[in-house]
Amino acid sequence: MQSTLGVGFLGAGPVTQAIHLPAMARLTDHFTVRHVNDVDAAVAQGVAGNAGTAYSTSLEALLDDPRVDVVAICSPHAYHAEQAIAACRAGKKAVLCEKPLAMSAAEAALIATVSAETGVPVLVGAMHTFDPGWRAAVASWGDLPATSHTIRSSVVLPPNARFEDLATEVISRAAFPAVDVSDVEVRASMVHAGVMGLAVHDLPLIRSLLPRYDDLRVLCADLLTPFGYRILMVAGGKVIELHAVMSQTWQPSWVLEAYADDQVLHTEFTPSYVHAGSAVSTLTTAGSARVFGPSRANGYEAEWLELAAVVRGEVAPPDLDGLVDDLQFTVAVADAAADAVRTLAKTEAAA
Ligand SMILES: NC(=O)c1ccc[n+]([C@@H]2O[C@H](COP(=O)([O-])OP(=O)(O)OC[C@H]3O[C@@H](n4cnc5c(N)ncnc54)[C@H](O)[C@@H]3O)[C@@H](O)[C@H]2O)c1
Repeated sequence: MQSTLGVGFLGAGPVTQAIHLPAMARLTDHFTVRHVNDVDAAVAQGVAGNAGTAYSTSLEALLDDPRVDVVAICSPHAYHAEQAIAACRAGKKAVLCEKPLAMSAAEAALIATVSAETGVPVLVGAMHTFDPGWRAAVASWGDLPATSHTIRSSVVLPPNARFEDLATEVISRAAFPAVDVSDVEVRASMVHAGVMGLAVHDLPLIRSLLPRYDDLRVLCADLLTPFGYRILMVAGGKVIELHAVMSQTWQPSWVLEAYADDQVLHTEFTPSYVHAGSAVSTLTTAGSARVFGPSRANGYEAEWLELAAVVRGEVAPPDLDGLVDDLQFTVAVADAAADAVRTLAKTEAAA
């Protein structure tokens, strides 16, 4: 039997606890959790205790641990770039960085440069991009990127805590501060955060349907309460609607659709945190409907399996330019959407 890859987690919050540790428990032929790191010592110790591993509170301690082959970055967004670069420079075998890869295109480009220099592959944990039900549709959609004219991403989810608590007993969770949504700058920053944190899952998929996006224009955007966004935009000559709301709903839904005159793609993803099989995609034409999925493995499992295959040299590492472009597109949408929130407020104030 081949030896497993040792995994070290940077950041041991709900995503490590409720998403990645359950995924690791199903992939013991490939991975062994070796180290849990968090700046909060109680969280690091508690999560490491549950996983039966070493723990630390400093980045250096995890990177110096020779049993850590793969670094999984699950800290808040602002730390992703510096930690991904440090993991590459430490000569690890691979990095799995939670989305977003970085907070700016410049940071993402630096990660790509260091990854290329060191030869350490970096994968981004945008799980839909690995989802077998999505990938099978992409392999069969023919000229949909050229012919599609209308794209819609629609997400209705309960708050993350609902699924986190169904997956595990979470040790410590950040409290959401009360916010004043009558303040336009608060609304603009929440829409920006919604794009960087949630729309970031589907924007790489949407980008794969766009021949270009240098014509990106956000026509209107606003915050949906209690948390969400509605963004109408044009890019690559296509109309794109992004709609997401996190409410107390009992029935989650995560759908991506692309319409051409002669073909429609409809993909239903399992919600974040849920380890219940892949997306189901349907490609419909006037004469047929082809269904792809569900597969047993969902995007989380698929991203870890792909990482193992990359380390073993069985598949090519991810295209770094493509990952940088995904991040650049995401930041451009987030910035333009935040500006559109400000414009809408000015228009309403003037009316
Ligand atoms: N793929 C998905 O489905 C999915 C879902 C939700 C969130 N995420 C992403 O996962 C990441 C983590 O999300 P979360 O909800 O667990 O975040 P969180 O902020 O609740 O927890 C992050 C943990 O990191 C720790 N931390 C803070 N600074 C650190 C540092 N410099 N080094 C090490 N640890 C540090 C915190 O103490 C906390 O325990 C985020 O980037 C988020 O975007 C992914």
